[in-house]
Amino acid sequence: MIREVLKMGDPFLLQAARPVEAFDTPGLHALLADMRETMAHLNGAGLAAPQIGVGLQVVVFGVDRNDRYPRAEEVPDTVLINPVLTPLSDELEEDWEGCLSVPGLRGMVPRHARLRYQGFDERGNRIDRSVSGFHARVVQHECDHLQGILYPMRIRDFSKFGFIQALFPGEEILEE
Ligand code: NI
Repeated sequence: MIREVLKMGDPFLLQAARPVEAFDTPGLHALLADMRETMAHLNGAGLAAPQIGVGLQVVVFGVDRNDRYPRAEEVPDTVLINPVLTPLSDELEEDWEGCLSVPGLRGMVPRHARLRYQGFDERGNRIDRSVSGFHARVVQHECDHLQGILYPMRIRDFSKFGFIQALFPGEEILEE
């Protein structure tokens, strides 16, 4: 079922999510089906459970290399539950981000360039990956949602924050 995505300003988006305690349950599978469907419907690169009003540490993300978007880096379709992120260097990279909870806007956000993420999929299988670039950025963005952090809260240069149509006339860009 396509769910309504909460928008910035909704206090629920500022709350920390709680860990999932039971895997491979009908409730968890139903939540993930809704998250995938909602993300696909909105053409998003990722979605966190709190964005649809569910306060659990669950995110989904993925970018198909075949999509005709300017940012062509592929990110595997991933379900990540109870994530733990560990930066692998102090290096930060700035790049544009958007968010389904902040529609129509883009901002330049610093993120760790390389990081390790660990967690579980919906069946309780362990996930442990070291990634960089856009993949690392998407993971950090989605996991921030689990801490009640939205990307505008990380912007340092507010001259690089604005409406997509004004910043990138004519381009089609993924939501995050
Ligand atoms: Ni987001």
